Amino acid sequence: MKMLADWSDRHSEKFQDEVLTFQHNLEKSGLFTDEALIALLDTHPSEQMDVCTMTDPDHPKFPNRFLTGDFRDADGETLLAAAKAERVFINLRKAMNIHPEYKALLDNMYGELAAKTGSKTFNANGGILISSPISQTPYHFDKTETILWHIRGIKRVYIYPRTQKFIPDNAYEATMTDKVNDDLPYTQEFDQEAFIHDLQPGEGLSWPHAAPHRVDNKTYCVSVTTEYSTRATAMKNAAMLTNATLRHRFGVKTSYETDGTTSRYVKSMFGRVMKKAGMVPDTTPADMVSFKIDPGNPNFVTDIEPFKRNF
Ligand SMILES: [Fe+2]
Repeated sequence: MKMLADWSDRHSEKFQDEVLTFQHNLEKSGLFTDEALIALLDTHPSEQMDVCTMTDPDHPKFPNRFLTGDFRDADGETLLAAAKAERVFINLRKAMNIHPEYKALLDNMYGELAAKTGSKTFNANGGILISSPISQTPYHFDKTETILWHIRGIKRVYIYPRTQKFIPDNAYEATMTDKVNDDLPYTQEFDQEAFIHDLQPGEGLSWPHAAPHRVDNKTYCVSVTTEYSTRATAMKNAAMLTNATLRHRFGVKTSYETDGTTSRYVKSMFGRVMKKAGMVPDTTPADMVSFKIDPGNPNFVTDIEPFKRNF
């Protein structure tokens, strides 16, 4: 079965340079029905799975924050019911790589993309997002090239320009040494310059590398996100990593925007060497588990005494 339903030369021309929507046939695989997702939730390794909630703005301890949940006592059926209920979302990291029937689909998706765009193999990772009607993904950017293959429900997506106003170099750098957080400073007036689109089932979305974006669910949603690096994104990230390390370790103020081509190149080489040498600081905060999936609660969320994630 063809995965890309309406991909044209226009898509290939603009791919990775502009915001693009396209139609796809992922749902027709039958791999994203409730039954299939329940089976997947029952077999996916727990260390590759995140079950999270977002707190209210008036939460006493953590206003507007992602919280990590303990899902080890919940089976697939309970987890899917939790995602459908209200405020839980589930990220099955690398689900498209780990499970053979999903991997076959991923290979088709990227095989077709490569054939259409002329790009070589992408080494893509693919995750599956199962998210509740009021889930929101805050303003952030992705370090890798990302494509959103939306499958069920409706999501409102906001994509913003890649200028210093929307993604300052120092914010980009800060995320290079933090493996978890890639949130950026955001104010609501940014929305005036955003591309805003309600993603429909069967619609895919791609955007230029590192364009900031955020997502508001309108309904219960199922989507696949795929990510991959290119030579260009790897070079840029390595240079950003060098600047982050120089700033963190030596207080050097330096910026990707004002660096020339040669300086960027040298820094990108240096960044890889430092990474290998273990010189890059790790500013990732500990992943604290602060609620558990509880079928006894209508929204399936019960706060627990926080502990450091160990599963
Ligand atoms: Fe993203």
